[in-house]
Amino acid sequence: MVRKMKKMKKINMKQTKHNIKMAETKRKSGRKADEMRPISAKVGIIPNANGSAMFQSGKTIAIAAVYGPKEHHPRSQRNPSRGTLRCTYNMLSFSVTDRIRPGSNRRSTEISKIIGWALEPVLMLDKYPGKVIDVCINMIQADAGTRCAGINAAAMALAHAGIPMKNMVSSIAAGKLDKTIVLDLDKYEDSEFEGGEGSTDIPITFTNDGKLTHIQVDGHITVEQLKEAMKMTREASKKIYEVQKQALKDSVGGGEK
Ligand code: CDP
Repeated sequence: MVRKMKKMKKINMKQTKHNIKMAETKRKSGRKADEMRPISAKVGIIPNANGSAMFQSGKTIAIAAVYGPKEHHPRSQRNPSRGTLRCTYNMLSFSVTDRIRPGSNRRSTEISKIIGWALEPVLMLDKYPGKVIDVCINMIQADAGTRCAGINAAAMALAHAGIPMKNMVSSIAAGKLDKTIVLDLDKYEDSEFEGGEGSTDIPITFTNDGKLTHIQVDGHITVEQLKEAMKMTREASKKIYEVQKQALKDSVGGGEK
């Protein structure tokens, strides 16, 4: 039994090496397996909001605006012991090539919830009993990875609004193309890639001290592949954090770049 387990472990190790080697194969975009799209961020883009930010990853652009803390209406939804974080994710009609029907749908409702869950662990909502903080996330261009870009923009907007936070959060997806683990799927890889096992999207959110606040796995993946995805995204989240931090510093300095 022990020998059999050792043998299985060996096979898994081989598979891991194979996957890592496979990861060197070319992506349609020309990116390396562990290469994310170019990112940029700006804080303080909507003067009427209490906090706001933009986060861009390749062709995906998210803007987030924070309003509050303010009186929670309707009163029936008020939580007397802590504040409520109310996230609303929306993809604008012109954000993709096929026009999207305005208004909420099942996908936007799901992503709104997920963004809230990714952010809540770092917020000190107990400081605002009975109040609500509205976070509006709009995708002005969508080329996959919108929930991650939305989380990154929203986290900066919350910090900009002066909401007390234990940490910043940074989000990025890993993916599996056939058997290859890659970083930051674009729309072609996410929706059109059909080789072998097809594609799997794994959005992950980390605090800046490396803790996980959100992970989704949509498809089949082995434990070793998941570990590889975690490693890649953890490294990438550190780079995202640096860009978020710089954007926040620039906004405090008040100077344009
Ligand atoms: O954007 P994200 O990867 O977080 O979520 P998704 O549901 O996996 O969507 C992937 C991509 O599909 C989006 O970023 C859009 O580019 C595209 N999409 C679309 O073209 N039309 C929709 N109604 C929904 C998504």
